[in-house]
Amino acid sequence: MDKILRCEKIRKVFIVKDFLGVNKRTTVALNDISINIEKGLNTGIVGESGSGKTTLARTMLLLIKPDAGSVYYREKEITHLSDNNLRDFRSKVRIIFQNPYKSLNPRLTIERTIKEALPSCDSHKQKVEDILAQVGIPKTYRTKYPHQLSGGERQRIAIARALAGIPECVIADEPTGNLDATTEVHILRLLEKLKEKFNLTYVFISHNLKIVSDICNKIAVMYKGRIVEEGDACDVSKNPLHPYTKALWNPDIAQPIDEKQTKYSEGCAFIDSCTSRKERCFCENPEIIEKEKNHSVACFLYE
Ligand SMILES: Nc1ncnc2c1ncn2[C@@H]1O[C@H](COP(=O)(O)OP(=O)(O)O)[C@@H](O)[C@H]1O
Ligand SMILES: [Mg+2]
Repeated sequence: MDKILRCEKIRKVFIVKDFLGVNKRTTVALNDISINIEKGLNTGIVGESGSGKTTLARTMLLLIKPDAGSVYYREKEITHLSDNNLRDFRSKVRIIFQNPYKSLNPRLTIERTIKEALPSCDSHKQKVEDILAQVGIPKTYRTKYPHQLSGGERQRIAIARALAGIPECVIADEPTGNLDATTEVHILRLLEKLKEKFNLTYVFISHNLKIVSDICNKIAVMYKGRIVEEGDACDVSKNPLHPYTKALWNPDIAQPIDEKQTKYSEGCAFIDSCTSRKERCFCENPEIIEKEKNHSVACFLYE
């Protein structure tokens, strides 16, 4: 299979000082994450708020540099390349940010927004109109500003911007997270149509396992900075293995992530919420292992 992106043992730690600069809080946002993005296979990344999804998306694009680990684009290591040398990579792998209210520059017209994302030789009016048509936005919107648009329209512009330059892979970070249910359906349909038309590969990030399993071929489940389960989408959704994935399917038992460190920092991060925990889970963190073909899990229940 043709690999577009590969992340190998990525670690990212944020250290935040309080306003006096005295107390420090450390968050391990990504803890030894390895993931492959293969051409033509949509990969879903699912997990609750705070599990590290956005940090992973930004690290895949090297908008955030990892503290450890490597990122490969088409099997060439790019982790330490400068922004200048990453330009070609970033035109081929694009991102749709989580919040279209924040991600569009309020001072730029829609036309300027799209033009800035086009390769310089392409930045003419007809090209902008073509891209707008692809995402269902009338050409008369060229002169409008983001604040004149609805949430759904802004997200269409964010998608149009990601498409400029014809990427091969689009990382969509909760692209429908701020939209009402009807607009969400329209945006998801649009993304599906564009995938076919432009032969795109998506990395689709969401806290909603149902949406991810409908759209994606593969799913990685994240919990507190780690991938706890990974596999073919139908296996992960129909036969979830990790207690956390099971909880995601059943919101009644799903617990919100406690931002504080778990009491048992040596052990499994899910220990506080796990109904199947064993003694060993308090003091050891399970590695992710392949349990069935193309279906891996990090849980001692399966060792
Ligand atoms: N720039 C940052 N500075 C400090 N902490 C951060 C920063 N970005 C993310 N974090 C922390 O990293 C963790 C993962 O955040 P994030 O990747 O945004 O999760 P998600 O997208 O799954 O909601 C959270 O605990 C968050 O508070
Ligand atoms: Mg996020």
